[in-house]
Amino acid sequence: MKVIYYNEGEDNAFWLAGLRAALPQAEFRLWLPGDEAPADYALVWDPPKNMLAGRKGLKAIVNLGAGVDKLLQMGDALPDVPILRLEDAGMAVQMAEYATYAVLRHFRRFDEYDRQAQRHEWQFLPSNNKRDFTVGIMGLGAIGKRIAQSLLHFGFPVRGWSRTRKAIQGVHCFAGTDGLEDFLQDVRALICVLPLTAETTSILNQKTFNKLAFGAYLINIARGKHLVEDDLLAALSSGRIAGATLDVFQEEPLPPGHPFWSDPRIAITPHMAGETFRDDTVRQVVEKLHALERGEAISGIVNRKNGY
Ligand code: NAP
Ligand code: GLV
Repeated sequence: MKVIYYNEGEDNAFWLAGLRAALPQAEFRLWLPGDEAPADYALVWDPPKNMLAGRKGLKAIVNLGAGVDKLLQMGDALPDVPILRLEDAGMAVQMAEYATYAVLRHFRRFDEYDRQAQRHEWQFLPSNNKRDFTVGIMGLGAIGKRIAQSLLHFGFPVRGWSRTRKAIQGVHCFAGTDGLEDFLQDVRALICVLPLTAETTSILNQKTFNKLAFGAYLINIARGKHLVEDDLLAALSSGRIAGATLDVFQEEPLPPGHPFWSDPRIAITPHMAGETFRDDTVRQVVEKLHALERGEAISGIVNRKNGY
């Protein structure tokens, strides 16, 4: 089995060593421009277009991350073979840690206490009541479900929204465009963990914010293009949104002069909510390659029409 590999921003020697140790019978090679030699599989994260465009003989492409939005931007240039994505692979628990931390930070008003401390101010702030602090999770997939579990543990009322209806114990589930308005109604903390698709692009906009409780919080750990950034700035000005925790941005790295940097109500992290750990990833990739070779049923196949 011949496998080409391209993993933007990672330590290739370390990753290739892990892959070779886990599947010694396969030939893994780092893809370099000009490499058109035959390959059965491509393992990729953010590959250059010419790695895959028009390539013949591939049996499948494995995306070394959860989101396939960048890969699918190649459109018809992508070979017509199954695309597989990572499912959890160690990311879900990290995303749950991040989202839970952000909700607790806003709920317990640590964000405001931090700002007070910077001003050397000692002042008690009234507590929020959990009953009035409904958390809404947009996306109930591998990651959203894990976030829901974590928040339920702390006793938050939890709602979830997905494309197809889910039944998750303790979570009030809503589905589809028809269910969006009821889902959003009076939510105090909105977490976005949706894939970026034609349907979900710009979903975090003024109309969405207006449905939330006044003074709600936004936590975006999905993709920057889910958020209309000017609408967030306007909602912060009006007080409709009281604060935001953002891991992803329209442009990454967030440009130096961007207004988000100077708004103390926005907490910024550099797209680190869910890191792709090598060993968890290698384990899952090897399982998927084995299943493909044996012609077994396999999960994590991307539906190109739905965009995730
Ligand atoms: P997933 O398992 O495919 O789950 C996606 C969820 O979104 C599903 O519940 C799906 O509904 C729902 N959804 C999709 N389109 C929808 C629509 N139009 N309306 C309502 N719900 C919709 O994906 P995942 O593994 O949880 O990952 C989600 C996203 O997180 C990734 O695509 C990526 O962008 C982001 N991510 C970010 C980081 C980071 O470091 N910031 C790390 C990992 C992932 P159904 O259940 O009905 O299909
Ligand atoms: C990271 O953002 C991923 O989609 O895996």
